[in-house]
Amino acid sequence: MIFDNKFRKQVEKYLSESKHYPDIFNKDEINELVDFMFKGTKWWRTSPTGNLFLGGNFNQLFEKHIKHKIENLLDTSLIKTCSGNFFHTPHQYGVHTDMPEPDNTYDKSEVTYKSILVPLYMLPDTHNGRIVFYDQRVIDSGCTFDWGPHRSTTHYRSFTDYSKIDHVYTFDKGYHTIDTNEKMSQEIFENSGLQYAPSKIDRYHGLSIENSFPWLPGSLYVFDTCQVHSSTLGEKSFITKAGLRISFITERTNES
Ligand SMILES: [Fe+2]
Repeated sequence: MIFDNKFRKQVEKYLSESKHYPDIFNKDEINELVDFMFKGTKWWRTSPTGNLFLGGNFNQLFEKHIKHKIENLLDTSLIKTCSGNFFHTPHQYGVHTDMPEPDNTYDKSEVTYKSILVPLYMLPDTHNGRIVFYDQRVIDSGCTFDWGPHRSTTHYRSFTDYSKIDHVYTFDKGYHTIDTNEKMSQEIFENSGLQYAPSKIDRYHGLSIENSFPWLPGSLYVFDTCQVHSSTLGEKSFITKAGLRISFITERTNES
């Protein structure tokens, strides 16, 4: 992928509010996805922080298990290919986008369309963590928002000074520079469940919240791949949680 002006113009056309659709996958369908995770994928790897990722064969996964679930929610005719992974994580995810790395292996003619998340299970199942979607989109390569002591441990671009992030877009401001003096209020911080994230409120200054949803197995979440998001540990923490994340890729139109 090439993150140029044409890329940004095209991605802007696809932007829409993050959505939570509960109970899209019943227990049997979740079991089928778990079965695919362990038997249908082509590769697995562990990360230094204890995540287990499994992937490969995602176009087949999409045709068999996902496409009919999202036909009324997304324009599936735009989907050229799928990337993503199944994950097991022992911790919450920090503030980040799901965009590719700068030196990604995607074709030059490919552009991100949308991402989906399907929580599969959590252990123990009393976990009450959330997933938080922010108003901010970063229509550029992937990045993490790492103010404070809780750093994301990824190889994506990491920012502790959010004003240095280029190509930040919101529906109300268009393109702008993040102003960390625009502080998040304590009320919004708590109402969105971020006090159980577990970062301090300072990490979120300059960001504003679009939606905070409970992280519920069987749900489907649809969001922009460039949308800033994070998850929380919750009041009743978890030992591991497993989910499926897919990013849909479309063809570059080259319109300016
Ligand atoms: Fe993500």
